[in-house]
Amino acid sequence: MNQYCVDLDIGQEYILKDKFYFDKLKVDGVPAAHFYLPLEEITEEFKTWVDEHDLRIRYSEIFYSSPNGGIFMHSDEVDPPNCCKINWIYDQGDTWINWYMPHPGVELTKQNNTIGGLYWDCPPDQCERVHRAKVGKPSLLNVSVLHDIENPTEHPRWCISIVLQEKTADKRLEWHKAIELFGPYFKNV
Ligand SMILES: [Fe+2]
Repeated sequence: MNQYCVDLDIGQEYILKDKFYFDKLKVDGVPAAHFYLPLEEITEEFKTWVDEHDLRIRYSEIFYSSPNGGIFMHSDEVDPPNCCKINWIYDQGDTWINWYMPHPGVELTKQNNTIGGLYWDCPPDQCERVHRAKVGKPSLLNVSVLHDIENPTEHPRWCISIVLQEKTADKRLEWHKAIELFGPYFKNV
């Protein structure tokens, strides 16, 4: 299997208590937006599923991309170097995530995001695309590897992102550990 994403079937296509939560977020006229999602908005069913896998939710976010928009290339986190997320994408099925590898010797640069966090990037001409996928509800994603979002549709794209960590660890859950834990839920592998 690839090292970038895998769809999961955990039997939970909706994890927000309020199915109209996106309507509360102000995105009029902006091409993209990023919000923290309060943990109290997440269903107890999903929190129980997380707990049963000896994990906890470190934080959660929502990303918006306008019709015919996208999100620029970035790495979410470089420490640990292969950390992952579980994402739910609401997009009518036609948006894409691309992953990129920097050329040998290229160092990523630390940047500030719009909600008080960090991301890392490099000039687009210093990396190559290595994978491209449509992702689902939910999917496990490797977000340390550089990635961007394409929304070539006439519809908005909403993404709920859950950042996990092991209960016994103080860093984000890494891809190889997630693959072990979530193997029983893989779809289409
Ligand atoms: Fe990201």
